[in-house]
Amino acid sequence: MAHARGHFTSRFGFLMAAAGSAIGLGNIWGFPTQAASNGGGAFVLAYFILAFLLAYPALMAELIIGRHSNANIVTALSTLSDRPLLRRVGGMVGYYGVLVVSLILSFYAIVAGWILAKFAAPLMQLLGFEAGAGWLAQSGLVRDLSACFVFSLMTVWIVARGVSQGIEAWSTRLMPTLAILLLALIVYVLNQPGAAEGLRVYLLPDFSRVLDPSLLLSAMGQAFFSLSLGVGTMLVYGSYLGRALSERDRQDKLPHIGATLTLLDTSFAFVAGLLIIPAMYVAQAQGIAIYGAAGELLAGPGLVLQVLPSLFDNMGNAGVWLAMTFFALMTIAALTSSISMLEAPVSVVTEKSGAPRTRVTMMIGGIIFLISAIIVMNFAALFDGVVSFTTEFSQPLLGLALCLFAGWVWHRDKKIQALAAQQGIERQGIFWRIWPFYVRIICPLLILVTFMQSLRV
Ligand code: TRP
Repeated sequence: MAHARGHFTSRFGFLMAAAGSAIGLGNIWGFPTQAASNGGGAFVLAYFILAFLLAYPALMAELIIGRHSNANIVTALSTLSDRPLLRRVGGMVGYYGVLVVSLILSFYAIVAGWILAKFAAPLMQLLGFEAGAGWLAQSGLVRDLSACFVFSLMTVWIVARGVSQGIEAWSTRLMPTLAILLLALIVYVLNQPGAAEGLRVYLLPDFSRVLDPSLLLSAMGQAFFSLSLGVGTMLVYGSYLGRALSERDRQDKLPHIGATLTLLDTSFAFVAGLLIIPAMYVAQAQGIAIYGAAGELLAGPGLVLQVLPSLFDNMGNAGVWLAMTFFALMTIAALTSSISMLEAPVSVVTEKSGAPRTRVTMMIGGIIFLISAIIVMNFAALFDGVVSFTTEFSQPLLGLALCLFAGWVWHRDKKIQALAAQQGIERQGIFWRIWPFYVRIICPLLILVTFMQSLRV
């Protein structure tokens, strides 16, 4: 390989980057509204259980394969086995993952663009550019395309700088900022009239719904999306752990690091709910409609792009600051996720072609922006389809494939066992006793069952 691989410089850096990938619009926007419309605390409970029972072992599969292979998803999966057929299948799964994550980025960047525009609008207003603020606040083809372009450019700029200088450096700056902004907003919102009602809807479980298949399905999809699973993002981040852990630590600490990551991601989603749901009921207390025509709680675009902005508008001067803070929070969350998505295809192409990272990043970023532009211009026809093809259909299937690869191909490899023994690494502890069987049999079955359900509903 012509170029030295990038790597994270410390465990903390890795944690911030991986948490940055996991914590995104899925946590701040997806999770709270799913919870509110799926039985409140019941969904929260199901989500926590599924995240640890199902998503955590799958996350470990990715981190372990990445750590072991020191490579991008395509190279990693096509070199796990000596058998030609398995190598070919591995390569194909890898390329499918890369395609899926590129498509996820293409719609994610559109949504992130809306949010970036909503951040820039109050900023312009504060600076006295009323006309600019008005243009930014209203959705339209040119605005959406320009905002998506600017967001994509930020993503490309960070990824082009490399793993430690770009991804790690920016994640360690942005993630703590994100936590502070979130806590500040929660304190403010919980002190407004109406917030208590929101807390009640969010936290009181409707236990009759805990075993509802559609609830479990949404919770699984949410967990896979939120932990960025199946597409090689976590795999390639795991492969950059090389120098951040000593040889011995790699075996011992990885399960612990993965668990910390799962906990960070789920807690962040939970805490974001303490902001979003009460904020909706604060809006209701001010006369803003928060239910749609069919009596359902407004989720998705309706929530973040209508309800919350109307709430901010109602709050006068404080509202301008609140809007700016809230959308800054969302932009940061989206950016640390989008860089992790772009890294997946970039790592494949740089390592396969040996071409310079900057050029590859710009090229791939450019292609993904073109796909975004096509989606923006044919929004009604394409957007929902791309979202369900990637997140509902492909991600669980790819997660399944990765569990099978980790459980059946990697873990049973005699050479690897011999190598581990040679280095004096004994795989002891509860994780190594349970995980191999679990990831080989239980995880794939659970994913499959839930997936079959989804084909029926
Ligand atoms: N997990 C992020 C979120 O919650 C999004 C994300 C980043 C992602 N990388 C991914 C989703 C890879 C799927 C696949 O918003």
